[in-house]
Amino acid sequence: MGRYRSWLRDRLSVRPWWMNLLMLFCAFIVFVYAPYDLFVKPVARDHDVWMGMVFTDWVAKVGDVLHWIVYAFGLYGFWRMRPWMWPWASLYVAQMAFGMLVWSIAFIPGTRGWVAGVLSGAALAVVAAALWRARARFQNRPTLAQRYGEWALVTGASAGIGLEYVRALAARGISCVMCARREERLEELAAQLERAHGIETRVVAADLAEPGGAERLLAAVADLDIDILVSNAGAGYAGRFIRQDPNRLRQMVELNCTAHVVLCAALVPAMVSRRRGAVIVVGSVAGRQPLPFHAVYSATKGFDLLFGEGLWAEVRDQGVDVLVVQPGPVKTEFEMVAGEARKNRSAEESAANVVAVSLEALGQSPSVVTTWFNWIRANVNRLFPRSTIAFVAGDLMEAQTDTRYL
Ligand SMILES: NC(=O)c1ccc[n+]([C@@H]2O[C@H](COP(=O)([O-])OP(=O)(O)OC[C@H]3O[C@@H](n4cnc5c(N)ncnc54)[C@H](OP(=O)(O)O)[C@@H]3O)[C@@H](O)[C@H]2O)c1
Repeated sequence: MGRYRSWLRDRLSVRPWWMNLLMLFCAFIVFVYAPYDLFVKPVARDHDVWMGMVFTDWVAKVGDVLHWIVYAFGLYGFWRMRPWMWPWASLYVAQMAFGMLVWSIAFIPGTRGWVAGVLSGAALAVVAAALWRARARFQNRPTLAQRYGEWALVTGASAGIGLEYVRALAARGISCVMCARREERLEELAAQLERAHGIETRVVAADLAEPGGAERLLAAVADLDIDILVSNAGAGYAGRFIRQDPNRLRQMVELNCTAHVVLCAALVPAMVSRRRGAVIVVGSVAGRQPLPFHAVYSATKGFDLLFGEGLWAEVRDQGVDVLVVQPGPVKTEFEMVAGEARKNRSAEESAANVVAVSLEALGQSPSVVTTWFNWIRANVNRLFPRSTIAFVAGDLMEAQTDTRYL
């Protein structure tokens, strides 16, 4: 109970009390008022007001959907204090102020209409002005270095998502330890980033799938305070399970699961004692459901999700933020390494987007799915029995797997 209270206190302390009330109002509209209007109120009795104009019948029903969307965005924007909320919320409330003025004068007879219109319009105008003046609250978050510290350790930094993490962190002035097996690539990248951003770097070549690989990496950073751990290195292995190489499967489990645990076990206690730090575990939407022909990979990513979210709840009130990042298909070397069949890559997300979304979500939630489309897919899954999802996913994955591995 105490843990829940402290989480709620933290969530509410990021905005002033009056903004919390606005957020509560949005929640009321989203979960109670708009669903009642939409599903319970008879069409003949429905009416909707926009910019002071009154709409009735089916037009009003469509308006209820729009209202629901507007308030759902409002709820999300306040909850996450998104930068776009600043102009959006103040302009929306300003149009409500105008609407209340016009509506009251037009529909409440006599002086009462004028009084009600001016009072309600003025009250809403004050709220609109307060939102307009609150720009800094939506936009001025402390930098990563201010929140967590100077040094990051990124695994899997030689390619794909890990490479983009290093670039993004370096651009924010954070010094980076880069780990992967291909040392030359890391050395080249380190030299580039030092020149471009004046940061310090350290290259550690290690195979995290081999026993003792993670320990070797930890020994190489023992003299540093690692403030941000990006545990990203991972690999897939597509194919029919009974035909797969057990040794490669074991290595995948070591890399995708054990390495995260060993690195966190060594680095998180020091973050907790400094009372600041961040851990990003790169999981996948593949971990949200069973995935035949990628069965072990999806299980490792399910492990990452549950491990990271559990750790999030343990250390969040000790100054350490944990985030599990769950991308869908991303344009990297992953597909080739995993043995997936080539598919249309234009629909794939960029590694830069994965990184941008996750750095924005860090400290705000325990996990994030990095595109809306994948978020919807991942959550629609929850509505069906896992057996059904396994059958459907099996058909899709079979088509996406290189025939040599089936
Ligand atoms: N791409 C996608 O579609 C996708 C989707 C969802 C989740 N993810 C996840 O995103 C993470 C990064 O994947 P990516 O897409 O960036 O793949 P990638 O382009 O293949 O990069 C993988 C990185 O991990 C490193 N790595 C692989 N095996 C390693 C080992 N045994 N020891 C140390 N480092 C190793 C690789 O470097 P070296 O080869 O030089 O060692 C490389 O830097 C993975 O955890 C993956 O599961 C990817």
